[in-house]
Amino acid sequence: MHHDFGEDFLWGAATAAHQIEGNNVNSDWWAREHTVGTRIAEPSGDAADSYHRYAEDIRLLAEAGLNSYRFSLEWARIEPAEGHISRAELDHYRGMIDCCAEHGVTPLLTLHHFTAPRWFAERGGWLGQGCVDRFTRYVETVLPLLDAASHVFTINEPNILAMMIGGEKGDEQLLAGSLPAPDPVATEYLIAAHERAVELVRSVGIPVGWPVAPQQFFADPGAEDVLRDYAYPRETVFLEAARGDDFVAVQAYTRTRITLDGPLPAPETVERTLTGWEYYPSAVAEAARLAHDITGLPVLVSENGIATADDARRIDYTRDALRALHAEMAAGLPLFGYLHWSLLDNYEWGSYTPTFGLIGWDPETFERTPKPSLAWLGEVARGVRSVL
Ligand code: FCB
Repeated sequence: MHHDFGEDFLWGAATAAHQIEGNNVNSDWWAREHTVGTRIAEPSGDAADSYHRYAEDIRLLAEAGLNSYRFSLEWARIEPAEGHISRAELDHYRGMIDCCAEHGVTPLLTLHHFTAPRWFAERGGWLGQGCVDRFTRYVETVLPLLDAASHVFTINEPNILAMMIGGEKGDEQLLAGSLPAPDPVATEYLIAAHERAVELVRSVGIPVGWPVAPQQFFADPGAEDVLRDYAYPRETVFLEAARGDDFVAVQAYTRTRITLDGPLPAPETVERTLTGWEYYPSAVAEAARLAHDITGLPVLVSENGIATADDARRIDYTRDALRALHAEMAAGLPLFGYLHWSLLDNYEWGSYTPTFGLIGWDPETFERTPKPSLAWLGEVARGVRSVL
């Protein structure tokens, strides 16, 4: 047995409710997908039907040898109308947590993964006055579910969410490869909502943090100041806001070059994945180091992976990502887990084409097909295979 990463290391995979459950009809995303004239390529529909098939998904994860599963609670199901709490949906998520326990799998729970109830969006979403109180009430509602989790994530990728909100307002001419400026109001509300949620989750004794998605900006000579100013509202501010948390989580896939004129998309000459991102496995180690340097906290990788139809390339990418993480650990980085994105092929916020899954499924029958990468990662997790 190797256990290159230590005995207690969390080895798992991650998902998000809207991307795999299917028929999340009360969510703002579902509404957006079905708006006439939407730029969204295809709607989420049934997704992977994991709402009904989660037991099989968790079993496959456990049988492969992974020991943890990160998934999200769907606010739009739990509180379909403001103030109306669905006990049946709370039971549903309790069932998922129990199912993890039956398989010896540690559950890690995300409270908010990009989607919110329609009614929340109608009140202005994360730009609406009162949004922090609305979210806090939802967190209070789900608190009794959280004590079985090992870790809780408040809001997934607040930096990307703030950029999505900034981009929707469309008051900026976007250059190819550039990220919209985050809406400063959304940034402020998200940080305030996080702080309230941290306090609540701590009251039940569960470690809490949030997963930020740094973009591994790298500067051309002389563009260091451009980089700093570009990165501050897009990631740094959210990492600084994690300083009082119990841990910091990172999610990383690629890197972005910053020139004197700003960001550039990955050039044609480099290998790119199905999302168009540069194939760059060291991204996650750089992100983990950055997050630790800013916060001083223990680090968890709560997402990392690759959109590819070539599963052998997924294994290459993951092996090199883990090697880079291991090198950082050897240099002192306190890393306590690695959760691969994603357990299943899923709805990638507008399209099913970028396949990130360790498990594929048939769109007609939903029959699951574990890919070789699932068995491979399970062997690494069990310590029967070394990546070094
Ligand atoms: C992250 C999201 C996740 C998934 C991956 C590819 O930004 O948190 O839902 O879309 O990227």
